[in-house]
Amino acid sequence: MVCLGNICRSPMAEGILRNKAFDKGIKIEIDSAGTGDYHVGEHPDKRAVETMAKFGIDISDLRARQFTVSDFDEFDEIYAMDDSNYKNILSLSRNALDESKVTMILNLTNEGENRSVPDPYFGGMDGFDKVYYMLDDACEVILENK
Ligand code: 4NP
Repeated sequence: MVCLGNICRSPMAEGILRNKAFDKGIKIEIDSAGTGDYHVGEHPDKRAVETMAKFGIDISDLRARQFTVSDFDEFDEIYAMDDSNYKNILSLSRNALDESKVTMILNLTNEGENRSVPDPYFGGMDGFDKVYYMLDDACEVILENK
């Protein structure tokens, strides 16, 4: 799961997917990262932690890290939260296999529309709720074929 800062959208996506995988007994490795390095080492934004806690998921222990080219080797599927993340991830890809792993996450629920998960960082709590519901639906689709 990849966004810009790895403190709002992608740690929420990581927590949601991990929670669903656990509930369904599906064993997969899940992680998140940011394309930027501004918040490396920080815990998720307080508003993201509070929103997730409201839905019964604890992401308070996560720490931000930056996406690196080795993530193409570590992971089979790479989900970008928005079009800027998508372009930045692809700019690090080395070959067609790397490229094939990258998907705009909302294309799982809105196929072919290339919609972005809105960045909630500069808005209020309601933005975090909206992000939660979008990611919840998308993560359900990720696990459908697992
Ligand atoms: P995220 O949100 O990419 O969902 O983690 C942001 C976090 C920090 C900043 C921008 C977006 N920032 O500009 O510091």
